[in-house]
Amino acid sequence: MKVDVILGLQWGDEGKGKIVDVFTPHYDIIARFQGGPNAGHTIEFDGKKFVLHTIPSGIFHRSTLNLIGNGVILDPFIFIREIEKLEEAGIHAEENLLISNRAHLILPTHRMLDAVSESGKGQAKIGSTLKGIGPTYTDKFARNGLRIGDLNKTDFPERYRVLKEIHLHTLHSFNAELAGYTLDGLSFEEYEKKWFEAIGRMKTFRRVEGEQFLNKSLDEGKSVMAEGAQGTLLDVDFGSYPFVTSSNTIAAGVCSGLGISPHRIGKIYGVFKAYCTRVGSGPFPTELTDETGAILRCNGNEFGSTTGRPRRCGWLDLPALKYAIMLNGVDTLIMMKADVLNTFEKIKVCRNYNTGGQIRDEFPFELSVDNLEPVYKEMKGWNMSLNSTESFNALPLQLSEYIRFIEKETGIPVEMVSVGPDRVQTLKK
Ligand code: GDP
Ligand code: IMO
Ligand code: MG
Repeated sequence: MKVDVILGLQWGDEGKGKIVDVFTPHYDIIARFQGGPNAGHTIEFDGKKFVLHTIPSGIFHRSTLNLIGNGVILDPFIFIREIEKLEEAGIHAEENLLISNRAHLILPTHRMLDAVSESGKGQAKIGSTLKGIGPTYTDKFARNGLRIGDLNKTDFPERYRVLKEIHLHTLHSFNAELAGYTLDGLSFEEYEKKWFEAIGRMKTFRRVEGEQFLNKSLDEGKSVMAEGAQGTLLDVDFGSYPFVTSSNTIAAGVCSGLGISPHRIGKIYGVFKAYCTRVGSGPFPTELTDETGAILRCNGNEFGSTTGRPRRCGWLDLPALKYAIMLNGVDTLIMMKADVLNTFEKIKVCRNYNTGGQIRDEFPFELSVDNLEPVYKEMKGWNMSLNSTESFNALPLQLSEYIRFIEKETGIPVEMVSVGPDRVQTLKK
């Protein structure tokens, strides 16, 4: 058996959570392979709405196991809050959730370091979700990190103390101190106390060697889907650096984030919106800062699932999409939020970039909007509701033409179109 992959092809928030949930009944195991609580994956069904940050989006199907892989970083406080939210809705994640012993922990001081680093950048700030992502991955690669598998060790409190000391030293050099500092509305001491209480509860979850568990499951014929977080254009190597996250969000990240050989990678599903959004700073060639951008934001309810920040909106960017397809080896495209374009008489799609009179369709190293102008193709909109569209074949002509154009430009089939946030508002070819 092979590991199929669902990941985002833009700047995150493409609708990965919804699609993973839709695919889950066909898989025995769903495994998150990177990122942390900077992610916000929304799932809607039966009139209910859930936003997951660390827990894989397969959790709502009891017969599917969900693994938080070694490439993920966890904040115990946020994780347990997420578990409690699910409990309020009668969902007991303990039953079908496993955590890799090799996943790293986000310490309270990692979050402080994130905040201090961002404010030190001034105008050049990344627009981080401030969940401690950068500092935690930094410690992982600097070989300082604490892992889930360390929780039961007798020297865990001492190792925590030593790492916290190192962080305090750095914070001190930035003139940042614990006194007066708040995290999620709590003083540092209160937050730290709750963080340790959360660790106590975390110890009751099933912890496994994720790589052994997955490879054995595949040998036994079990089906596995890997769930990405963020998006390809936020990848630390290939995204719009430095305005990126701190992990490899692309398909290659599945191997290191789960302990899977490249031979075991199966089908790769690339999820993209019918337009583009971005939350946080950084270049965005097709961004619309005008009324049209505001309409996209309003129609698409484009506000961050994790931070509530308004998302920047713009037309679909084909050079960026093709770049993402290339990096991931996407087999199948899934178009999300087509309904958001319902009210438009005309829509635009960026086909190339004009860089100083030169037309190119490669995603460049320098993505600065100053030297790069999108060249648009205008297409007819469908200008009607998709509420009563019950099948892929019944999509309005203009939407079918938009999809065919994307397929022709990218060379990859669009096999699913999402026309609303609910699980059932998904049309398969
Ligand atoms: P993720 O991070 O990729 O899982 O995406 P988010 O959950 O952060 O953002 C996607 C948002 O769009 C969520 O609020 C979803 O409920 C919503 N959504 C997903 N698919 C559709 C769709 O086809 N149409 C509309 N209107 N909303 C959608
Ligand atoms: P999902 O999984 C959209 C963005 C932040 C910021 C940059 C770095 O829901 O698609 P970080 O917190 O990682 O230091 O932030 O990346 N970002 C996301 N944008 N969706 C996400 O996740 C994101 N996770 C991080 O806004 O610009
Ligand atoms: Mg999101």
